[in-house]
Amino acid sequence: MPSISALQFADAQSVLDNIERQFTISDDTLVEIAKGFLVEFEEGLNNYGKDMAMIPTFVTGVPDGTEQGTFLALDLGGTNLRVCEVVLNGDKTFNLTQKKFKVSDTLKQGEASALFNYIAESVDSFMTTHSKTDYTTGRKQGDSVYLGFTFSFPVEQTALDRGKILTWTKGFSAKNAVDHDVVQLLQDAFDRKHMHVKCVALVNDTVGTLLTRAYISGGALIGAIFGTGTNGAYVEDIAKLKKLDGSPAAAKGGHMVINCEWGAFDNSRTYLPMTPYDNTLDRLSINPKYQTFEKFISGMYLGEIVRHIILSLVDAVPQAILFKGKSTSALNEHYGLDTAFMSAVEAAWIGEDQSAEAFELPPLGAFDDSKLNDKVQPKLQRIKTVIAETLHYKPEDISFQDAAIVRSLCALVANRAAALSGTAVAAVLVQTHRARLPGDTTRELKHQNESVIGVGVDGSLVEHYPAFQDKIRATLRNLVGEDVEKRVDIGLAKDGSGVGAALCALQALKQ
Ligand code: GLC
Repeated sequence: MPSISALQFADAQSVLDNIERQFTISDDTLVEIAKGFLVEFEEGLNNYGKDMAMIPTFVTGVPDGTEQGTFLALDLGGTNLRVCEVVLNGDKTFNLTQKKFKVSDTLKQGEASALFNYIAESVDSFMTTHSKTDYTTGRKQGDSVYLGFTFSFPVEQTALDRGKILTWTKGFSAKNAVDHDVVQLLQDAFDRKHMHVKCVALVNDTVGTLLTRAYISGGALIGAIFGTGTNGAYVEDIAKLKKLDGSPAAAKGGHMVINCEWGAFDNSRTYLPMTPYDNTLDRLSINPKYQTFEKFISGMYLGEIVRHIILSLVDAVPQAILFKGKSTSALNEHYGLDTAFMSAVEAAWIGEDQSAEAFELPPLGAFDDSKLNDKVQPKLQRIKTVIAETLHYKPEDISFQDAAIVRSLCALVANRAAALSGTAVAAVLVQTHRARLPGDTTRELKHQNESVIGVGVDGSLVEHYPAFQDKIRATLRNLVGEDVEKRVDIGLAKDGSGVGAALCALQALKQ
């Protein structure tokens, strides 16, 4: 049972102050981290096999909202497998019908052929029971139904419909998949079932998010996911993609969407200030030393970091700092604490009353329930309820002080994630010559007349964690200045994976 039981202390407040120090990243350090991004961007653009893979997607233009067509879309790599039918109406709107399918750990970690058979079966079941289009009558022999596949893992693409899986992330480890062409794995599964479905485009969720944002708003530069995993895609000058030199794509020139795979930023552990909790999480993960940045940010890991901190405070000596030293089986379970718990705690804390009094807490060393004012007490009470329900504590084992501490821990971990998320976006703005980092006076600035810089985002953190976007914006202001930050238009591109796959399938058929 993983925990860090090494906290021996003189007073609880100093323990908490110390944790706070470890999880707070100064603006100067964020600038250094952004510079680290620029270094790794360049390495990945110049060479294959780098940590940050900077994958060429062969998507060479972004939609403007006039695209039309009906496509099937598949989305694997978030919480569920989704099968969708997308109708692009050509007027920046779309209609989407979808069905979600669970992917068990057995499938995630078994044989790839079993996983892809399951995916094909899910598409089949969707087509016969859910889709709005009748795929059975009136179709000629050999007619194919076109499908775009959002596969949200690192894939070295060689064409819109071809790419080898580089590695698994986010809890997947299916065998006989890495180094195989993922479109072929899927197509073989369709063919084994004699389905007339043809996968014509392969797309990462970040690329789908970028394309979707562009479709619904008329243009975009960046697509980013802050969900189970984290990653970003952006539009780059092909001339900067040195590793494509000599290829037909390079000869054509222009732009190409790059899937950064920024979850793997700092696998060398050069830039990010690690805490002991991050080290424990990494060591106990199924991919130690990989996806370092993702482990600081994404929904798959944040709850787990909080769980490790809570356990260390439960186990602290000479006196427990949380829950009278008691733990529960939910708290002891590896990955037992979902990021949704953090969102619920923060939502309870923000509550409806936002007056200064409603956030007033006594210092820990002098925490006295009778001194809690009647505005803050109901908030702590709600947090106690969230803790009791999620971690299965008996209400009498949770004090108001416990609720206050848990809330501050959740906020520390989430704020760090949001600051780093903002740093990644800032780095792309600098990379694309839209901004400079503090202290830099030489980087050439371009696109200064562009009034809006479109950023499409998706994922459970941006969608559900209270004020996550505001926190990203605050970091952007500090790193690239208010003038640029004001031009950045961050918009949720919900269903980006489905719509993006459809947009990509359309682009593939046009080529
Ligand atoms: C992981 C995957 C990446 C994906 C991201 C968000 O980082 O490797 O491909 O875009 O999660 O889902």
